[in-house]
Amino acid sequence: MRPFEKLLLENKAWAEEKISKEPDYFKRLAKEQTPGVLWIGCSDSRVPAEIITNAEPGEIFVHRNIANQIITTDFNSLSVIQFAVSVLKVKHVIVCGHYNCGGIKAALESQRAELALVNKWLMHVKDVYRLHQDEIERQPTAEARAARLVELNVIEQIYSLAHTSIIQQAWKTERRPALHGWVYGLDNGILNDLITLTPDHRIESIYRYADPSTI
Ligand code: CO
Repeated sequence: MRPFEKLLLENKAWAEEKISKEPDYFKRLAKEQTPGVLWIGCSDSRVPAEIITNAEPGEIFVHRNIANQIITTDFNSLSVIQFAVSVLKVKHVIVCGHYNCGGIKAALESQRAELALVNKWLMHVKDVYRLHQDEIERQPTAEARAARLVELNVIEQIYSLAHTSIIQQAWKTERRPALHGWVYGLDNGILNDLITLTPDHRIESIYRYADPSTI
């Protein structure tokens, strides 16, 4: 069986199982979504948000890209964030990185000619490296350096989120959402908390909107 055929077959079995447990399962879900959480994670196939958190459809609004980045010129992730925060009114935003991330490891290497677009996407991770170069280079091994860049990249994305007008406005007017930076271990399946920013967080003045309620 080819990989895509397996997916279609498994989908039928999954849908039947859901209906057997709750006949109106899909009717209930089809009405609306009220996820409490926005998840911004890596595209890596080994870090599926719902599976590693044992969540059901409807619980998590998800955006994934290479190396779980929030880039202020990327309308894709910003649109997801705006919709989740301003319309779905999520109370929590999670940025989840993972150790052994191919994107992070690639960012620590030279650029590859055949990956012209990916190079540009990873340029922002290289900037995170440059910002924390001394700390990263103090790590004893290449593996430890990559692991620290994974963590620092998550932390920097949390600050990038806090610098957006979307988050600053929601913090000012509705005292939500909390921003959580997590990292996932591919080798043990465990999520660890790296950073939490709440609406009380004082944003550095150069990134702060003077009056976010007028944005
Ligand atoms: Co990754």
